[in-house]
Amino acid sequence: MTAKNFDFILRGGLVVNHDGVGPRDIGIRAETIAAIGDLSLASAGTTIDCDGLHILPGVIDTQVHFREPGPTHKEDLETGSRAAVLGGVVGVFEMPNTNPLTTTPEALADKVARATGRMHCDFAFYVGGTHENAKDIAELERLPGAAGIKVFMGSSTGSLLVADDAGVTEILRHARRRAAFHSEDEFRLIERMGERVPGDPASHPVWRDVETAMACTRRLIAIARAQRARIHVLHVSTGEEIELLSRHKDIASVEVTPHHLTLSADDYATLGTKIQMNPPVRDKSHREILWRGLDQGVVDVIGSDHAPHTLEEKARAYPDSPSGMTGAQTLVPIMLDHVAAGRLTLQRFVDLTSAGPARLFQIARKGRIAVGFDADLTIVDLKRRETIRNSWIASRCGWTPYHGKQVTGWPVGTFVRGARVMWEGEVLAPSTGQPIRFLEAL
Ligand code: DOR
Repeated sequence: MTAKNFDFILRGGLVVNHDGVGPRDIGIRAETIAAIGDLSLASAGTTIDCDGLHILPGVIDTQVHFREPGPTHKEDLETGSRAAVLGGVVGVFEMPNTNPLTTTPEALADKVARATGRMHCDFAFYVGGTHENAKDIAELERLPGAAGIKVFMGSSTGSLLVADDAGVTEILRHARRRAAFHSEDEFRLIERMGERVPGDPASHPVWRDVETAMACTRRLIAIARAQRARIHVLHVSTGEEIELLSRHKDIASVEVTPHHLTLSADDYATLGTKIQMNPPVRDKSHREILWRGLDQGVVDVIGSDHAPHTLEEKARAYPDSPSGMTGAQTLVPIMLDHVAAGRLTLQRFVDLTSAGPARLFQIARKGRIAVGFDADLTIVDLKRRETIRNSWIASRCGWTPYHGKQVTGWPVGTFVRGARVMWEGEVLAPSTGQPIRFLEAL
Protein backbone atom coordinates (compact mmCIF):
# COMPACT_ATOMS: atom_id res chain seq x y z
CA MET A 1 0.00 0.00 0.00
CA THR A 2 1.25 3.48 -0.81
CA ALA A 3 0.75 6.51 1.41
CA LYS A 4 -2.60 8.25 1.84
CA ASN A 5 -4.67 5.63 0.15
CA PHE A 6 -7.69 6.54 2.15
CA ASP A 7 -9.54 9.48 3.60
CA PHE A 8 -10.20 7.48 6.76
CA ILE A 9 -8.85 4.30 8.21
CA LEU A 10 -10.80 2.83 11.13
CA ARG A 11 -8.16 0.78 12.84
CA GLY A 12 -8.48 -2.16 15.17
CA GLY A 13 -12.27 -2.38 15.54
CA LEU A 14 -14.24 -5.60 15.68
CA VAL A 15 -16.20 -5.57 12.45
CA VAL A 16 -19.62 -7.25 12.53
CA ASN A 17 -20.50 -8.33 9.04
CA HIS A 18 -21.98 -11.08 6.89
CA ASP A 19 -18.81 -13.15 7.51
CA GLY A 20 -18.99 -12.98 11.29
CA VAL A 21 -17.25 -10.81 13.87
CA GLY A 22 -13.53 -10.15 13.72
CA PRO A 23 -10.74 -7.60 13.92
CA ARG A 24 -10.46 -5.74 10.64
CA ASP A 25 -9.37 -2.31 9.51
CA ILE A 26 -11.70 -0.40 7.21
CA GLY A 27 -10.41 2.03 4.57
CA ILE A 28 -12.81 4.71 3.34
CA ARG A 29 -12.26 6.73 0.19
CA ALA A 30 -14.72 9.56 -0.51
CA GLU A 31 -18.22 8.10 0.09
CA THR A 32 -17.25 4.47 -0.28
CA ILE A 33 -15.74 1.56 1.60
CA ALA A 34 -12.50 1.00 -0.33
CA ALA A 35 -10.80 -1.80 1.62
CA ILE A 36 -11.43 -4.20 4.51
CA GLY A 37 -8.70 -6.23 6.20
CA ASP A 38 -5.22 -5.59 7.56
CA LEU A 39 -4.41 -2.01 6.52
CA SER A 40 -1.44 -1.61 8.87
CA LEU A 41 0.84 -0.53 6.02
CA ALA A 42 -1.61 2.01 4.60
CA SER A 43 -2.12 5.58 5.69
CA ALA A 44 -5.01 7.97 5.55
CA GLY A 45 -5.94 11.59 6.00
CA THR A 46 -7.46 10.58 9.35
CA THR A 47 -6.88 7.38 11.25
CA ILE A 48 -9.32 6.51 14.01
CA ASP A 49 -8.37 4.07 16.72
CA CYS A 50 -11.35 1.75 17.17
CA ASP A 51 -9.71 -0.55 19.69
CA GLY A 52 -12.40 -2.00 21.94
CA LEU A 53 -15.24 -0.84 19.65
CA HIS A 54 -17.53 -2.81 17.37
CA ILE A 55 -18.16 -1.52 13.84
CA LEU A 56 -21.60 -2.36 12.46
CA PRO A 57 -23.12 -1.75 9.04
CA GLY A 58 -24.97 1.57 9.39
CA VAL A 59 -28.31 1.22 11.15
CA ILE A 60 -31.28 2.14 8.94
CA ASP A 61 -34.45 3.13 10.79
CA THR A 62 -37.27 2.27 8.40
CA GLN A 63 -40.02 4.09 10.30
CA VAL A 64 -39.79 7.67 11.57
CA HIS A 65 -42.14 10.68 11.64
CA PHE A 66 -40.18 13.95 11.32
CA ARG A 67 -43.23 16.27 11.00
CA GLU A 68 -41.94 18.57 8.23
CA PRO A 69 -43.75 20.22 6.50
CA GLY A 70 -46.48 20.79 9.07
CA PRO A 71 -46.27 20.47 12.85
CA THR A 72 -42.60 21.44 13.06
CA HIS A 73 -43.03 22.56 16.66
CA LYS A 74 -42.68 18.84 17.44
CA GLU A 75 -39.77 18.04 15.08
CA ASP A 76 -38.32 18.88 11.69
CA LEU A 77 -36.08 17.13 9.21
CA GLU A 78 -32.95 18.71 10.71
CA THR A 79 -33.72 18.01 14.38
CA GLY A 80 -35.07 14.53 13.69
CA SER A 81 -32.01 13.53 11.69
CA ARG A 82 -29.71 15.08 14.31
CA ALA A 83 -31.36 12.80 16.86
CA ALA A 84 -30.94 9.86 14.47
CA VAL A 85 -27.19 10.29 13.92
CA LEU A 86 -26.59 10.92 17.64
CA GLY A 87 -28.20 7.53 18.12
CA GLY A 88 -26.00 5.85 15.51
CA VAL A 89 -28.60 5.84 12.70
CA VAL A 90 -27.31 6.45 9.15
CA GLY A 91 -30.56 6.48 7.20
CA VAL A 92 -34.30 6.85 7.79
CA PHE A 93 -37.56 6.16 5.98
CA GLU A 94 -39.87 9.02 6.90
CA MET A 95 -43.67 8.80 7.01
CA PRO A 96 -46.23 10.66 4.90
CA ASN A 97 -48.59 11.97 7.64
CA THR A 98 -47.17 15.47 7.44
CA ASN A 99 -49.06 18.61 6.38
CA PRO A 100 -49.53 18.67 3.46
CA LEU A 101 -49.67 14.89 3.26
CA THR A 102 -46.98 13.25 1.11
CA THR A 103 -49.41 11.91 -1.49
CA THR A 104 -48.37 13.69 -4.69
CA PRO A 105 -45.15 14.01 -6.74
CA GLU A 106 -44.99 17.69 -5.72
CA ALA A 107 -45.23 16.96 -1.99
CA LEU A 108 -42.54 14.27 -2.29
CA ALA A 109 -40.23 16.55 -4.29
CA ASP A 110 -40.73 19.28 -1.70
CA LYS A 111 -39.63 16.92 1.10
CA VAL A 112 -36.61 15.74 -0.88
CA ALA A 113 -35.59 19.37 -1.54
CA ARG A 114 -36.01 20.30 2.13
CA ALA A 115 -33.96 17.27 3.22
CA THR A 116 -31.08 17.29 0.74
CA GLY A 117 -27.94 18.67 2.32
CA ARG A 118 -29.89 19.60 5.45
CA MET A 119 -30.61 16.24 7.02
CA HIS A 120 -27.67 14.69 8.86
CA CYS A 121 -28.42 11.18 7.63
CA ASP A 122 -29.62 9.74 4.34
CA PHE A 123 -33.34 9.52 3.82
CA ALA A 124 -36.27 8.21 1.83
CA PHE A 125 -39.89 9.31 2.15
CA TYR A 126 -42.94 7.09 2.07
CA VAL A 127 -45.73 8.24 -0.22
CA GLY A 128 -49.14 7.91 1.42
CA GLY A 129 -51.49 5.63 -0.50
CA THR A 130 -55.02 7.05 -0.87
CA HIS A 131 -58.20 6.33 -2.81
CA GLU A 132 -57.36 9.29 -5.01
CA ASN A 133 -53.78 8.37 -5.95
CA ALA A 134 -54.22 4.56 -6.10
CA LYS A 135 -54.10 4.44 -9.89
CA ASP A 136 -50.82 6.40 -9.91
CA ILE A 137 -49.05 4.23 -7.32
CA ALA A 138 -46.69 2.53 -9.79
CA GLU A 139 -45.26 5.91 -10.79
CA LEU A 140 -45.34 7.48 -7.32
CA GLU A 141 -43.45 4.65 -5.65
CA ARG A 142 -40.57 4.92 -8.13
CA LEU A 143 -39.95 8.67 -7.86
CA PRO A 144 -36.52 9.77 -6.56
CA GLY A 145 -36.46 9.69 -2.78
CA ALA A 146 -39.54 7.46 -2.44
CA ALA A 147 -39.27 4.59 0.06
CA GLY A 148 -42.45 3.09 -1.37
CA ILE A 149 -46.11 3.37 -0.41
CA LYS A 150 -47.46 3.58 3.14
CA VAL A 151 -51.12 2.93 3.90
CA PHE A 152 -52.95 3.67 7.15
CA MET A 153 -55.79 1.12 7.36
CA GLY A 154 -56.67 2.50 10.81
CA SER A 155 -56.55 6.17 11.63
CA SER A 156 -53.74 7.50 13.75
CA THR A 157 -52.02 10.91 13.86
CA GLY A 158 -53.08 12.90 10.76
CA SER A 159 -55.79 12.25 8.20
CA LEU A 160 -54.36 9.48 6.00
CA LEU A 161 -56.78 6.54 5.86
CA VAL A 162 -57.75 3.74 3.52
CA ALA A 163 -60.01 1.63 5.72
CA ASP A 164 -61.85 -0.45 3.12
CA ASP A 165 -60.85 -3.62 1.27
CA ALA A 166 -61.67 -2.07 -2.11
CA GLY A 167 -59.29 0.83 -1.49
CA VAL A 168 -56.45 -1.41 -0.31
CA THR A 169 -57.07 -3.74 -3.25
CA GLU A 170 -56.81 -0.87 -5.69
CA ILE A 171 -53.52 0.28 -4.15
CA LEU A 172 -51.98 -3.19 -4.16
CA ARG A 173 -53.21 -3.80 -7.70
CA HIS A 174 -50.96 -0.97 -8.84
CA ALA A 175 -48.03 -1.40 -6.44
CA ARG A 176 -44.90 -3.06 -7.76
CA ARG A 177 -42.68 -2.46 -4.76
CA ARG A 178 -43.29 -3.74 -1.21
CA ALA A 179 -45.97 -1.50 0.34
CA ALA A 180 -46.04 -0.78 4.09
CA PHE A 181 -49.16 -0.89 6.27
CA HIS A 182 -50.42 0.45 9.56
CA SER A 183 -52.67 -2.48 10.30
CA GLU A 184 -55.51 -1.65 12.68
CA ASP A 185 -59.14 -2.15 11.63
CA GLU A 186 -60.79 1.27 11.41
CA PHE A 187 -64.36 -0.10 11.59
CA ARG A 188 -63.63 -1.87 14.88
CA LEU A 189 -61.84 1.22 16.22
CA ILE A 190 -64.96 3.29 15.59
CA GLU A 191 -67.24 0.65 17.15
CA ARG A 192 -65.11 0.50 20.28
CA MET A 193 -64.58 4.24 20.94
CA GLY A 194 -66.58 3.81 24.15
CA GLU A 195 -63.84 1.60 25.62
CA ARG A 196 -61.63 4.65 26.09
CA VAL A 197 -61.68 5.65 29.75
CA PRO A 198 -61.19 9.40 30.14
CA GLY A 199 -57.97 10.10 32.01
CA ASP A 200 -56.77 6.48 31.82
CA PRO A 201 -54.24 5.69 29.06
CA ALA A 202 -54.19 2.07 30.28
CA SER A 203 -57.52 1.77 28.42
CA HIS A 204 -55.73 2.49 25.11
CA PRO A 205 -54.90 -1.21 24.47
CA VAL A 206 -58.46 -2.11 25.54
CA TRP A 207 -59.90 0.20 22.87
CA ARG A 208 -57.33 -0.71 20.20
CA ASP A 209 -57.47 -4.37 21.19
CA VAL A 210 -55.77 -7.50 19.83
CA GLU A 211 -58.66 -8.24 17.49
CA THR A 212 -58.42 -4.70 16.03
CA ALA A 213 -54.89 -5.52 14.86
CA MET A 214 -55.60 -9.17 13.96
CA ALA A 215 -58.75 -8.47 11.97
CA CYS A 216 -56.92 -5.92 9.87
CA THR A 217 -53.83 -8.05 9.29
CA ARG A 218 -56.07 -10.97 8.28
CA ARG A 219 -57.85 -8.77 5.72
CA LEU A 220 -54.56 -7.33 4.50
CA ILE A 221 -52.98 -10.75 3.91
CA ALA A 222 -56.05 -11.94 2.00
CA ILE A 223 -55.96 -8.87 -0.25
CA ALA A 224 -52.20 -9.16 -0.80
CA ARG A 225 -52.56 -12.84 -1.76
CA ALA A 226 -55.33 -12.06 -4.21
CA GLN A 227 -53.26 -9.28 -5.77
CA ARG A 228 -49.99 -11.26 -5.60
CA ALA A 229 -48.41 -8.29 -3.86
CA ARG A 230 -45.67 -7.95 -1.25
CA ILE A 231 -46.62 -6.26 2.01
CA HIS A 232 -44.69 -4.94 5.00
CA VAL A 233 -46.64 -4.94 8.26
CA LEU A 234 -45.39 -2.10 10.42
CA HIS A 235 -45.05 -2.16 14.22
CA VAL A 236 -46.61 -5.59 14.85
CA SER A 237 -47.81 -5.56 18.46
CA THR A 238 -49.67 -8.84 19.07
CA GLY A 239 -48.59 -12.43 19.50
CA GLU A 240 -51.53 -13.52 17.33
CA GLU A 241 -50.25 -11.53 14.34
CA ILE A 242 -46.74 -13.00 14.72
CA GLU A 243 -48.24 -16.47 14.55
CA LEU A 244 -50.42 -15.54 11.55
CA LEU A 245 -47.62 -13.74 9.70
CA SER A 246 -45.25 -16.69 10.22
CA ARG A 247 -47.53 -18.59 7.83
CA HIS A 248 -47.29 -15.91 5.12
CA LYS A 249 -43.60 -15.14 4.92
CA ASP A 250 -43.56 -15.46 1.14
CA ILE A 251 -45.51 -12.21 0.81
CA ALA A 252 -45.36 -10.51 4.21
CA SER A 253 -42.48 -8.89 6.03
CA VAL A 254 -42.65 -7.86 9.67
CA GLU A 255 -41.44 -4.88 11.65
CA VAL A 256 -41.37 -4.67 15.44
CA THR A 257 -40.40 -1.62 17.48
CA PRO A 258 -38.06 -1.25 20.44
CA HIS A 259 -40.97 0.01 22.58
CA HIS A 260 -43.11 -3.06 21.95
CA LEU A 261 -40.07 -5.20 22.83
CA THR A 262 -39.16 -3.20 25.94
CA LEU A 263 -42.25 -1.65 27.54
CA SER A 264 -45.47 -3.30 28.64
CA ALA A 265 -48.95 -2.37 29.83
CA ASP A 266 -47.57 -2.28 33.39
CA ASP A 267 -45.71 0.91 32.42
CA TYR A 268 -48.90 2.97 31.91
CA ALA A 269 -48.97 3.35 35.71
CA THR A 270 -45.70 5.29 35.75
CA LEU A 271 -45.36 6.66 32.21
CA GLY A 272 -49.03 7.34 31.39
CA THR A 273 -49.71 8.98 28.03
CA LYS A 274 -45.98 9.12 27.24
CA ILE A 275 -46.20 5.51 26.10
CA GLN A 276 -49.54 5.96 24.34
CA MET A 277 -48.84 4.69 20.82
CA ASN A 278 -50.73 3.23 17.89
CA PRO A 279 -50.77 0.29 17.92
CA PRO A 280 -50.59 0.24 21.70
CA VAL A 281 -48.01 -1.12 24.10
CA ARG A 282 -49.73 -4.29 25.39
CA ASP A 283 -49.43 -6.76 28.23
CA LYS A 284 -46.27 -8.79 28.70
CA SER A 285 -47.59 -11.95 27.06
CA HIS A 286 -47.50 -10.18 23.68
CA ARG A 287 -44.02 -8.85 24.32
CA GLU A 288 -42.85 -12.42 24.94
CA ILE A 289 -44.24 -13.61 21.62
CA LEU A 290 -42.73 -10.64 19.76
CA TRP A 291 -39.36 -11.75 21.18
CA ARG A 292 -40.06 -15.32 20.11
CA GLY A 293 -40.94 -14.05 16.62
CA LEU A 294 -37.68 -12.15 16.58
CA ASP A 295 -35.80 -15.23 17.74
CA GLN A 296 -37.39 -17.45 15.13
CA GLY A 297 -36.79 -15.11 12.21
CA VAL A 298 -40.43 -14.11 11.65
CA VAL A 299 -39.43 -10.50 12.34
CA ASP A 300 -37.47 -8.89 9.50
CA VAL A 301 -36.66 -5.40 10.75
CA ILE A 302 -36.73 -3.14 13.76
CA GLY A 303 -38.07 0.36 13.14
CA SER A 304 -38.36 2.97 15.86
CA ASP A 305 -41.70 4.52 14.81
CA HIS A 306 -40.19 7.75 16.15
CA ALA A 307 -43.37 9.85 16.54
CA PRO A 308 -42.62 13.00 18.54
CA HIS A 309 -45.23 15.09 20.33
CA THR A 310 -44.47 17.82 22.87
CA LEU A 311 -44.78 17.13 26.58
CA GLU A 312 -47.55 19.77 26.73
CA GLU A 313 -49.52 17.81 24.12
CA LYS A 314 -48.84 14.56 25.95
CA ALA A 315 -50.03 16.16 29.21
CA ARG A 316 -53.61 16.43 27.90
CA ALA A 317 -55.96 13.99 29.57
CA TYR A 318 -56.41 10.69 27.68
CA PRO A 319 -57.91 10.33 25.04
CA ASP A 320 -57.21 13.94 24.01
CA SER A 321 -53.50 13.16 24.27
CA PRO A 322 -51.76 12.31 20.97
CA SER A 323 -50.23 8.89 20.27
CA GLY A 324 -46.50 8.61 19.71
CA MET A 325 -43.12 8.88 21.39
CA THR A 326 -39.55 9.54 20.31
CA GLY A 327 -37.39 6.57 19.37
CA ALA A 328 -34.85 7.18 16.60
CA GLN A 329 -32.09 8.22 19.00
CA THR A 330 -32.75 5.43 21.50
CA LEU A 331 -33.17 2.52 19.04
CA VAL A 332 -29.49 1.53 19.16
CA PRO A 333 -28.86 1.89 22.90
CA ILE A 334 -32.12 0.18 23.87
CA MET A 335 -31.48 -2.74 21.51
CA LEU A 336 -27.80 -3.01 22.50
CA ASP A 337 -28.97 -3.24 26.09
CA HIS A 338 -31.08 -6.22 25.02
CA VAL A 339 -27.95 -7.64 23.36
CA ALA A 340 -26.04 -7.17 26.64
CA ALA A 341 -28.84 -8.97 28.47
CA GLY A 342 -28.57 -11.89 26.04
CA ARG A 343 -32.00 -11.41 24.41
CA LEU A 344 -30.54 -11.26 20.89
CA THR A 345 -27.09 -11.53 19.36
CA LEU A 346 -25.22 -8.62 17.87
CA GLN A 347 -25.38 -10.38 14.49
CA ARG A 348 -29.17 -10.58 14.71
CA PHE A 349 -29.28 -6.89 15.60
CA VAL A 350 -27.28 -6.17 12.43
CA ASP A 351 -29.60 -8.41 10.44
CA LEU A 352 -32.64 -6.48 11.74
CA THR A 353 -31.28 -2.96 11.27
CA SER A 354 -29.13 -2.97 8.13
CA ALA A 355 -29.15 -6.25 6.20
CA GLY A 356 -32.92 -6.63 6.80
CA PRO A 357 -33.92 -3.19 5.47
CA ALA A 358 -31.57 -3.61 2.49
CA ARG A 359 -33.06 -7.03 1.65
CA LEU A 360 -36.72 -6.04 2.04
CA PHE A 361 -36.55 -2.71 0.28
CA GLN A 362 -33.75 -3.49 -2.20
CA ILE A 363 -31.58 -0.59 -1.11
CA ALA A 364 -28.64 0.19 -3.40
CA ARG A 365 -25.14 0.16 -1.83
CA LYS A 366 -26.27 0.06 1.79
CA GLY A 367 -26.85 -2.58 4.46
CA ARG A 368 -23.49 -4.32 4.64
CA ILE A 369 -19.84 -3.54 5.10
CA ALA A 370 -18.43 -4.38 1.69
CA VAL A 371 -16.04 -2.79 -0.77
CA GLY A 372 -17.99 -0.63 -3.19
CA PHE A 373 -20.79 -0.02 -0.71
CA ASP A 374 -21.55 3.33 0.94
CA ALA A 375 -19.28 3.94 3.92
CA ASP A 376 -22.23 3.91 6.35
CA LEU A 377 -21.12 2.70 9.76
CA THR A 378 -22.53 2.55 13.28
CA ILE A 379 -19.68 2.32 15.76
CA VAL A 380 -20.64 1.09 19.20
CA ASP A 381 -19.12 0.39 22.60
CA LEU A 382 -20.86 -2.73 23.88
CA LYS A 383 -19.51 -2.35 27.40
CA ARG A 384 -20.28 1.29 27.98
CA ARG A 385 -22.86 1.92 30.68
CA GLU A 386 -24.86 5.08 30.26
CA THR A 387 -28.07 6.50 31.60
CA ILE A 388 -30.48 7.73 28.91
CA ARG A 389 -31.61 11.24 29.79
CA ASN A 390 -34.03 13.76 28.30
CA SER A 391 -31.11 16.21 28.12
CA TRP A 392 -29.39 13.90 25.57
CA ILE A 393 -32.45 13.83 23.27
CA ALA A 394 -31.92 16.09 20.24
CA SER A 395 -35.48 15.73 19.02
CA ARG A 396 -37.25 19.10 19.19
CA CYS A 397 -39.77 17.75 21.68
CA GLY A 398 -36.87 16.92 24.00
CA TRP A 399 -38.03 13.83 25.87
CA THR A 400 -37.86 10.05 25.84
CA PRO A 401 -39.91 7.45 27.71
CA TYR A 402 -36.56 5.92 28.72
CA HIS A 403 -35.41 8.94 30.78
CA GLY A 404 -33.42 7.56 33.73
CA LYS A 405 -32.96 4.09 32.24
CA GLN A 406 -29.47 2.68 32.54
CA VAL A 407 -28.26 0.74 29.52
CA THR A 408 -25.18 -1.27 28.61
CA GLY A 409 -24.05 -0.54 25.03
CA TRP A 410 -23.83 2.87 23.39
CA PRO A 411 -23.39 4.43 19.92
CA VAL A 412 -19.98 6.14 19.77
CA GLY A 413 -19.77 7.09 16.09
CA THR A 414 -21.85 7.44 12.94
CA PHE A 415 -20.43 7.52 9.40
CA VAL A 416 -22.78 8.45 6.54
CA ARG A 417 -21.33 7.90 3.04
CA GLY A 418 -17.79 8.46 4.28
CA ALA A 419 -18.51 11.52 6.43
CA ARG A 420 -17.96 11.21 10.16
CA VAL A 421 -21.23 12.87 11.16
CA MET A 422 -21.16 11.92 14.85
CA TRP A 423 -18.38 11.06 17.26
CA GLU A 424 -18.67 10.77 21.04
CA GLY A 425 -21.98 12.60 21.21
CA GLU A 426 -20.99 15.51 18.94
CA VAL A 427 -22.49 16.12 15.50
CA LEU A 428 -19.38 16.85 13.40
CA ALA A 429 -19.73 17.04 9.64
CA PRO A 430 -21.83 19.59 7.82
CA SER A 431 -25.13 17.98 6.89
CA THR A 432 -24.82 15.95 3.73
CA GLY A 433 -27.99 13.85 3.72
CA GLN A 434 -28.96 12.47 0.30
CA PRO A 435 -31.87 10.38 -0.97
CA ILE A 436 -31.43 6.64 -0.44
CA ARG A 437 -31.49 4.79 -3.78
CA PHE A 438 -33.43 1.60 -4.46
CA LEU A 439 -32.69 -1.12 -6.99
CA GLU A 440 -36.31 -1.16 -8.16
CA ALA A 441 -36.17 2.55 -9.00
CA LEU A 442 -32.62 3.13 -10.23
O1 DOR B 1 -48.53 6.27 17.74
C1 DOR B 1 -48.41 6.63 16.57
N1 DOR B 1 -48.04 7.88 16.26
N2 DOR B 1 -48.71 5.76 15.61
C2 DOR B 1 -48.81 6.16 14.32
O2 DOR B 1 -49.16 5.34 13.50
C3 DOR B 1 -48.58 7.55 13.94
C4 DOR B 1 -47.72 8.23 14.92
C5 DOR B 1 -47.66 9.73 14.74
O3 DOR B 1 -47.45 10.17 13.63
O4 DOR B 1 -47.79 10.44 15.74
